Amino acid sequence: MNSRKLLASALILGLGTLAGCSTEKPVSFQKDIAPILKAGCAECHTAPDGEGYQKSGLAVGTYEELMKGTKMGPVIIPGQSLNSSLNRLAEGRPGVDPSIQMPHGKVKLPEAQLALLRKWVDQGAKNN
Ligand code: HEC
Repeated sequence: MNSRKLLASALILGLGTLAGCSTEKPVSFQKDIAPILKAGCAECHTAPDGEGYQKSGLAVGTYEELMKGTKMGPVIIPGQSLNSSLNRLAEGRPGVDPSIQMPHGKVKLPEAQLALLRKWVDQGAKNN
C-alpha cells in the first residue's frame, strides 16, 4: 500500500470511529436486545399464534422478523430511535395512546432496558 492510500484509510477509519460515537460501547442485538424482546414481548409477538402478532403482524423471534415490522411496515428506523414506533410504544412517550403502549396492558420495561433499545436503534439497529 502506498502512503497516500494509507493516509486515506486512516482518515476513513478515524471518521468511522467519530460517527459511531467512540465512547459508547456498541449494544449487541444477540446479547442485549434479543433477551429483552424475548422476556417482554415474545409472549404476544410470536408467529403464528401470539395475540400481538395476529393483530399487528409484528413478530420478535428473529432479527429479520423484527426488522420487517408490522403489516403496515417497519417499527424500527435504524439510527432514529426518536422516530421508531417500537421505541415510542415501549416508552409510552407523550402522544402514544395508553391503550397501545407496549407491553400491552402490562408494566413498562425498566428504564435500563428502554435505554438499551434506544441505543441499539441509534447505533444503526444492527444484527450484531
Ligand atoms: C400482552 C401481549 C403483548 C405484549 C407482552 C407485547 N405486545 Fe406489542 N402488541 C400487542 C397487540 C395485541 C398489538 C396489536 C395492536 C393493538 O391492538 O393494540 C401489539 C402491537 C405492537 C406494535 C405495533 C403497533 C402498531 O403500530 O400497530 C409494536 C411496535 C409492538 N406491539 C411492540 C411491542 C414491544 C416492543 C413489546 C415488548 C416490550 C410488546 N409489543 C409486547 C400485544 C402485546
